[in-house]
Amino acid sequence: MTEISQALAEKVEAVKQVLADIVTDFNPATLASSYGAEDMVLMDLICNFAPEVEIFSLDTGRLPKETYDVMQLAKLKYGKDVLVYFPEANDIEPFVTQQGPNAFYDSIQLRKQCCGIRKVAPLKRALIGKKAWITGMRRSQAVTRSELPVSEWDEDHGLQKFSPLTDWSNGDVWSYIKAFDVPYNKLHDEGYASIGCEPCTRAITIGEDIRAGRWWWEDPENKECGLHIKAEK
Ligand code: ADX
Ligand code: SF4
Repeated sequence: MTEISQALAEKVEAVKQVLADIVTDFNPATLASSYGAEDMVLMDLICNFAPEVEIFSLDTGRLPKETYDVMQLAKLKYGKDVLVYFPEANDIEPFVTQQGPNAFYDSIQLRKQCCGIRKVAPLKRALIGKKAWITGMRRSQAVTRSELPVSEWDEDHGLQKFSPLTDWSNGDVWSYIKAFDVPYNKLHDEGYASIGCEPCTRAITIGEDIRAGRWWWEDPENKECGLHIKAEK
């Protein structure tokens, strides 16, 4: 285990305080985890310091093998029951039957429809009855996230939304993961900066934007799947 810098230690303390405030003022609250690097930092902090916070994950049915590997590793390490939400069979079966398995490459409209069925609708179910949800988003990840606050009212879902890592750099995330031996998705070692569904994610090269490997065939302004609608503005 390596040491973390004083500056990062202060950021960690600030996140712990945000989590403590969430437990006090917004119970029940839940972390949305894609098992990406940022979400693993938050999972580690929640399991160690704020176990009252629930965790859920949206299994789109198209996740890469490596994501299931880190899910299993995290289960062994933390022993936390992460709630898994799948797409509704009544939505996904006709969509794939009519449009084919890879329709998301054909148009932005079909891509958004696929994300709608596989992510956005299950997210709505996951948030029912919650007072707050927590995400691993950071400002420096994308043009669509440059003004992301730590806490905001999520009008679309009708609850508070927290992004405690909003001011963390990519380097902060990785220093934490290495220092505290946090399990992570091995695709990160192969040049994948941001990881979503297998057919819609690819590795990036040096100098490319962090989210350049997501829906790489679309404009940067389009690159949100609908989970974070407000962040698009
Ligand atoms: S996405 O909207 O483009 O997919 P990104 O992969 O950057 O988002 O992740 C941003 C945050 O959205 C994550 O930190 C996590 O909180 C949430 N999120 C994304 N994908 C999932 C998923 N499959 N399950 C649960 N939460 C997710
Ligand atoms: Fe469908 Fe791709 Fe969106 Fe996953 S990321 S839900 S496969 S369009």
